[in-house]
Amino acid sequence: MAAGSFRRSIASQLSKVLDLPPENLIKSISAVPVSKKRHVADFQFSIASIIENSSSDCLTQDLHLQAQQLAERLKCDSVVSGISAGPGTVNFTINRELLAKTVLQQVWKDGSEYGVKSELFSTVPRQKAVIEFSSPNIAKKFHIGHLRSTIVGNFIANLKVALGHEVVRINYLGDWGMQFGLLGVGFQSFGNKEKLKSSPLQHLFEVYVQINKAAEDENTKQLAKDFFRKLEEHDEQTLSIWKQFRDLSIEEYIRIYERLGVHFDEYSGESFYQERAQEVLKMLEDKGLLQKTIKGTGVVDLSEQKDLSTVSTVMRSDGTSLYITRDLAAAIDRMNKHSWDTMIYVTDKSQSNHFQHLFRILKLMGYDWAERCQHVSFGLVQGMKTRRGEVIFLEDVLNEVRSRMLQNMTSTKTTKEIQDPVETAEKVGLAALIIQDFRGLLSSDYQFSWDRALQSRGDTGVFLQYTHARLHSLEQVHGNAELTDVNVACLQEPDAISVLQHLLRYDEVLYRSSQDLQPKHIVSYLLTLSTALKITFFLVFQARLCLFHAARSVLASGMKLLGITPVTQM
Ligand code: ARG
Repeated sequence: MAAGSFRRSIASQLSKVLDLPPENLIKSISAVPVSKKRHVADFQFSIASIIENSSSDCLTQDLHLQAQQLAERLKCDSVVSGISAGPGTVNFTINRELLAKTVLQQVWKDGSEYGVKSELFSTVPRQKAVIEFSSPNIAKKFHIGHLRSTIVGNFIANLKVALGHEVVRINYLGDWGMQFGLLGVGFQSFGNKEKLKSSPLQHLFEVYVQINKAAEDENTKQLAKDFFRKLEEHDEQTLSIWKQFRDLSIEEYIRIYERLGVHFDEYSGESFYQERAQEVLKMLEDKGLLQKTIKGTGVVDLSEQKDLSTVSTVMRSDGTSLYITRDLAAAIDRMNKHSWDTMIYVTDKSQSNHFQHLFRILKLMGYDWAERCQHVSFGLVQGMKTRRGEVIFLEDVLNEVRSRMLQNMTSTKTTKEIQDPVETAEKVGLAALIIQDFRGLLSSDYQFSWDRALQSRGDTGVFLQYTHARLHSLEQVHGNAELTDVNVACLQEPDAISVLQHLLRYDEVLYRSSQDLQPKHIVSYLLTLSTALKITFFLVFQARLCLFHAARSVLASGMKLLGITPVTQM
């Protein structure tokens, strides 16, 4: 890894002066972020990291002084061409030609694995991760929260796979419950077999809306209850109707997810765990964890004092299970089936309590692996509407973003030269959606705006796609450069160096995202890379083509991690 060889070299210098093993120092040496203000140093070493309790005992002034003293004791060598002291840091500048040569060679060599092969990840053990995401409810709305879960879960899965972990992607459908009682009855009156086959999601939703209106009367309510009861009793005919609804819905989902570049290894759902939930209730009872309330419901006491001040209801008074009971069964089943090291659930933050309760009950049941379960939550998005109005189907969002993007492209007259404008518009539009969503912390809420998302300038996915397409076409026009004949001396202007310095940081950025599972680090990295490249486009010659190739390679890898398919024209 390019940055790695430099970090090692700096660490070995420091180790002699400080009399500390280089391994302990490497983690405190980081590539300096390229900010708007150009900087000269490439790496910095933080003094605070070698002083224990530095924050409490050491005054900032002391840190400055120590940085100065340390800098004075270090010498430049064939790798490091400049050493200076900053506020609490010692700054290192790498020999300019070596910087260019090493970075370019490394990107060339590692290709799409550049960054992930870094020694920063060498101590991270390879793991098996189950990632559950998207999880819409059949016959109900696919709301923006499901869209967010889909793209966030996909990002986490992509990142884990890129880092060499084994990943199982699960879609846990809302495919059981009273809604199927209503749907079964509704289909008898309002259903249409043709429509069910051609567009199941839309048709089932329509039937569900219609029957809900009709369900005011007691007769319909009773019929729905009967239908659902038959379903719970596994009446063959009833079950086959339910299965048809489910199968056709999944088929359509698979097709739509494909437009997003998303796939799942497993479609499971609440229906799977309906019966297993009874076994869970039995286990809870055997372990003495199930308590009956006066109303006859079953609860698990989650309070510290065991005074029922915090409880989780796991059983209705008629003995049937609830959402959380099915989740308990699902978690245990996934452990048995996959022996995972970590399990991640991706939903909006309104379900945080639910997952906290889930993990606590598992722990009380004696499953220590509950500590390795994680809920990745995200904030609410307001104001996403399509021309048809409120978002009901995932497909509506995809069609809307595609048609808006196509319109923008047509108005700037770029579509003529593009081979497949519709597909390009879709990919660029999706990039816009993803970047708008990933720019901030996942936990923050935001106000959705089509105009802001689809802007071609500024921090948008359109800008990333544009940069990628531009780099691609420069390579097309000027021919592919060969790394061997590059004269790196030609890459010494400040703008080219900024790009190189930035490429140097990619592993650290991936590392951060892998630690906190926030895509925003990668997003801002790619946006900065694109901004740094903007200036360099003015001058094109051989050495720059190599730089462009390297930059495009990193840009493409990062975009793919985020779930974006880079376009080559737009
Ligand atoms: N289907 C649920 C919903 O739409 C999300 C499922 C989340 N996952 C889970 N294991 N409970 O709200």
